[in-house]
Amino acid sequence: MTVKEQVLLLLEKQRETALSGEELAQQLSVTRASIWKAVKSLQKDGYAIEAVNNKGYTLKKAPDILSAAYIEQSLKRAGIDIKVKAEREVSSTNTVLKQYVSKGQMEDMILLAEEQTGGRGRRGRSFFSPEGTGLYMSILLHPLLTPGEAAMLTTMAAAAEAAALDRISGEDVKIKWVNDVWIRNKKISGILTEGSVSMEDGHLEYVIVGIGINVYEPTGGFPEEIKDVAGAVFTNDICRENLRNRIAAEVLTQFFKYYQKLPDKEYLEEYRKRSIAIGRQVQIIAPGKEEGQGSEDTLGRDHALVLGVDDECHLLVQYDDGTTDSLSNGEISIKIK
Ligand code: BTN
Repeated sequence: MTVKEQVLLLLEKQRETALSGEELAQQLSVTRASIWKAVKSLQKDGYAIEAVNNKGYTLKKAPDILSAAYIEQSLKRAGIDIKVKAEREVSSTNTVLKQYVSKGQMEDMILLAEEQTGGRGRRGRSFFSPEGTGLYMSILLHPLLTPGEAAMLTTMAAAAEAAALDRISGEDVKIKWVNDVWIRNKKISGILTEGSVSMEDGHLEYVIVGIGINVYEPTGGFPEEIKDVAGAVFTNDICRENLRNRIAAEVLTQFFKYYQKLPDKEYLEEYRKRSIAIGRQVQIIAPGKEEGQGSEDTLGRDHALVLGVDDECHLLVQYDDGTTDSLSNGEISIKIK
C-alpha cells in the first residue's frame, strides 16, 4: 500500500478528531514531508482534508472515486485476505485479468476500473461502462471445481450482489434468471463469468467473475439501444460520498462469505427469494435472439410457467400442455410476461 493510501485509511478511520503530521508519520514510519506530499495529492484528487494549525489533519469529505485500499481493508476486516487493484481506465476488467494470468498472476485478486472502453457482456454483447457512474469489477479465482460446477459462481455473485445492494440502497432488489440484477423493473447489473480449462486434463485453471453495476444514471442517459431496459441503483441526487467503494466492499464481502462455504450453497436461498421469474409466465427465447436484439424468434414451446430454480440453477418450467422441463442457462434466456 502506498503512503497516500495509508494516510487516507488513517484519516478515514478517525474522522472526528484531527491527526497531526507527526502522529501520521510515526504510525506509518515515514517522514513528515512524505505525509505532507500524500495529503496534497489526496486534496488534488478531491478529498476535502482540513489542516488546522497545531492540531493536524481531518477528512471532511471523500469524493466518490475508487480506492483499492479502502476495499482491501474492508475485506480484511471481514476476514477476507485478497489483493485489490483499481485502475482509472481499462478495456475490460475481465480481459485485463486474463492478461495478468498470462503474464504469471497466480494468486486470486480483484480488479476494478473507473471506466471500461471495451466492457463486455454475455453472448458477445458490449457492456456500457462510462466513467465514474458505474462499478466495473472482476474477481480472479482458482477454485477446485469442475468447469460445469463453476457456473454456480455466477449465481452466487448475483445473490451476493442483490443482498448487498438491498442493504445499501434499501431498494427491492430482484434477480432475473440467470444473472441480471433488477431494481424498479430495470436491469441495473450484469455478470460475465469466464474461465480457462486445461487441454491436458480438463481441469479448471481459473475463473474470472466480472460484475458491472450501474450505480448512478450516466450523464446524458443510457444509449438508445439499452435505454428501455437499463436502470441505475440510485437516482442522481443522493450523497455520493465514498458510495461506490462501500458498494464494492459490501458486494465482495458477501460474495466471499458465500464462496468460503461454497458446498453449502447458502446463496441459493437468497437467489430464489429474489427471483423475478418464479411463479410467473415467461417467454423462452432462442440463443442469439434476446430482448432488445431485434426480432425474437421463439422456440417451438415458447411459453411456460416457472416453477422454481433447482440446486444447479436450472429453471424448472411447466409448458401449457402440462409437461415440465429444466432449462440450463447456457442454452436459453427468458422474457418475463
Ligand atoms: C451482461 O449483462 O451481459 C454481463 C455484463 C458484465 C459486465 C462486467 S463489468 C466488469 C467485467 N468486465 C467486463 O468487460 N464485463 C464484466
